Amino acid sequence: MDVLTKRIVVLAGDGIGPEVCGEAVRVLKAVAQRFGHHFTFEHQLMGACAIDATGVPLPDATLDACHRADAVLLGAIGDPKYDHDPTAKVRPEQGLLALRKSLGLYANIRPVTAYEQLIDASPLRPDRIAGTDMLIFRELTGGVYFGEKGRLPDGTAFDNCTYNREEIARIAHRAFQAAQGRRRKLTLVDKANVLETSRLWREVIQSIAPEYPEVAVDYLFVDNAAMQLILNPKQFDVILTENMFGDILSDEASVIAGSLGLLPSASIGDAAALFEPIHGSYPQAKGKGIANPIAAILSAAMLLDHFGLPDEACAVRDAVENALNEQVLTPELNPTTRYTTEQVGSFIAYGVLDLKDCKFHQSNIRVGMSTII
Ligand code: IPM
Ligand code: MG
Repeated sequence: MDVLTKRIVVLAGDGIGPEVCGEAVRVLKAVAQRFGHHFTFEHQLMGACAIDATGVPLPDATLDACHRADAVLLGAIGDPKYDHDPTAKVRPEQGLLALRKSLGLYANIRPVTAYEQLIDASPLRPDRIAGTDMLIFRELTGGVYFGEKGRLPDGTAFDNCTYNREEIARIAHRAFQAAQGRRRKLTLVDKANVLETSRLWREVIQSIAPEYPEVAVDYLFVDNAAMQLILNPKQFDVILTENMFGDILSDEASVIAGSLGLLPSASIGDAAALFEPIHGSYPQAKGKGIANPIAAILSAAMLLDHFGLPDEACAVRDAVENALNEQVLTPELNPTTRYTTEQVGSFIAYGVLDLKDCKFHQSNIRVGMSTII
């Protein structure tokens, strides 16, 4: 077995970020212990905590450290004190967007699974969601998030949405490759009946599709996709979409899993990778020990896939599965026992050390991940 040495930069961030990140690090330490790897963890500031300490959301020291790292693990960023001031000049979110851009993290991958054990935690009907297993590929460094924005002299505001062929093609290839390793279906979500950028997405996807003849491609307008996600989520395998649509649809899709606190993500570029839960900083829960660490821990599993460590990633997913089976879960999923963030994280870390049968080896999620991250 190869022993790896890896440098992980941890951006714990704001709100519940430090709590959930702490548990993901605990689990990674358990992985290092069981498999004999050397992981180092370097903590840096990003988000509101960085603004408080340095005046900027992404200090140079943080950016440099992230560029040097083998991977970045992020908790969450954001603070309500910035949300209600439309004139604020600095915002925590600027740090995250600048980091994504600077590291070239163009592909954001968000797996959505309906866990059998939590099927009743979703407000959606169990028969509709049981068996859901999809990967959302969200473009992360283009579109309206990064287009020119501003105000005109007459007070009008604008946010431009632009995409070029290359930006579309590079994520499309990753999405097709992921589909090849899964159920071989790719759905492009766009608004091609209205938007020129969406028509370019269709053109590029149609020109790439012949390179992946075994993958069935279909096209959905985003409004319809929002409805289909709730009506019949099982129809989806890989969803490919642009930045803003992916942001919205992935929060919507989290309802299928039963809690926003369960969904991990990987943001991948050609030279860097960052792993973070899809949830936000949930400031109301800060310091209360009620935040679900599973999204952060499953993000750490994706980080292990990225390091080329499928057995290690599998050990983490099995330990999470064990926590679900034993109902060792935070109060939003199990209100009766009131396990804390730390108790759930520790239970999963012990699971990594104790559970030796790797059940997830055959799962679509693992196969899909290891081929794309
Ligand atoms: C996400 C978040 C971010 C985004 C925010 C915090 C800028 O909602 O990662 O989904 O919109 O991309
Ligand atoms: Mg979002």
